[in-house]
Amino acid sequence: MRYPIPSKIVEITSATAVGHSIWLAPKEPWPSAPTPGQFAMVWLPRPPDGYKPEVCNTVPMSIAGWDNGKVRITIKNLGPTSKALLACQCGDWLGLTGPLGHGFSLDCQHPLLMGGGVGAPPLLYLAQTFAAQGIKPITLLGGTTENEIFHHDEFPGTVELATDDGSAGHHGRVTELLAESSPDRLYSCGPEPMLVNGLQWALRHQVAAELCLERYMACGIGLCGICSLDQDLVCQDGPVFSSERLADSREFGTLLREAGGRVRQLSD
Ligand SMILES: Cc1cc2nc3c(=O)[nH]c(=O)nc-3n(C[C@H](O)[C@H](O)[C@H](O)COP(=O)(O)OP(=O)(O)OC[C@H]3O[C@@H](n4cnc5c(N)ncnc54)[C@H](O)[C@@H]3O)c2cc1C
Ligand code: FES
Repeated sequence: MRYPIPSKIVEITSATAVGHSIWLAPKEPWPSAPTPGQFAMVWLPRPPDGYKPEVCNTVPMSIAGWDNGKVRITIKNLGPTSKALLACQCGDWLGLTGPLGHGFSLDCQHPLLMGGGVGAPPLLYLAQTFAAQGIKPITLLGGTTENEIFHHDEFPGTVELATDDGSAGHHGRVTELLAESSPDRLYSCGPEPMLVNGLQWALRHQVAAELCLERYMACGIGLCGICSLDQDLVCQDGPVFSSERLADSREFGTLLREAGGRVRQLSD
């Protein structure tokens, strides 16, 4: 659907120190299950008690799960809108526009998933979709600390962690865990510098890769142009792009647009 459907919060789960998941029941059911990697625009129609109206922005959130019409999203505590979404309670209503964008392909027997930060939620749904087809993925998850890695205990298959402070798993970057791997496809979502490393590894090892970009979005439906990447719009042509497409990009890993269209150079 390309307009917000009133959706009731029916469950709050998987709390970490930096956020939690909510399950939403749309009043008007989505016609079919979303593809992993697709996202929804989430709108808070009324600020929770103690919050100002400015929190009523529409923000993109990946689909983290699907259960008979119920939609799961996982929210990290970042700025004003995510804080207000985390203050919502069971029984509150949000507006959900989705599913939007193009997701991951599923034609793979030995998938390797690599996620960082809020890249973990869409990969959880991807891993669960593979598991439902009898395919057990290997997943690499990274974060600043263990507390910042969403869902690591929920992934089917093998999971390896990497943390910047050494509080869990490998002490260092999640991309350093790639060295041991020989998958037939890499699926990745997270901060763009991590995706750039993943792309370089995939090209070096001639492994096909699909990368999910979490760029700034205002409308999510192809109207505002703020999410542009070269000639494409991430909200419509992505957020999942192939390694072939990104290998030719002038803007991937180098510049992006933020609120108001400001251009920001990405540093390493
Ligand atoms: C396709 C996609 C999927 C995403 N999935 C998730 C998810 O599953 N869970 C999650 O917690 N976050 C996800 N995000 C990021 C999320 O949309 C932002 O964190 C959120 O909008 C922050 O809003 P804020 O007001 O709380 O923070 P702000 O103070 O406005 O910003 C905090 C940070 O989030 C970035 N940001 C702000 N607004 C947006 C926006 N509209 N689009 C993208 N980035 C933004 C800012 O550049 C800044 O780095 C996703 C983004 C995209 C594009
Ligand atoms: S977010 Fe508006 S065109 Fe993509």
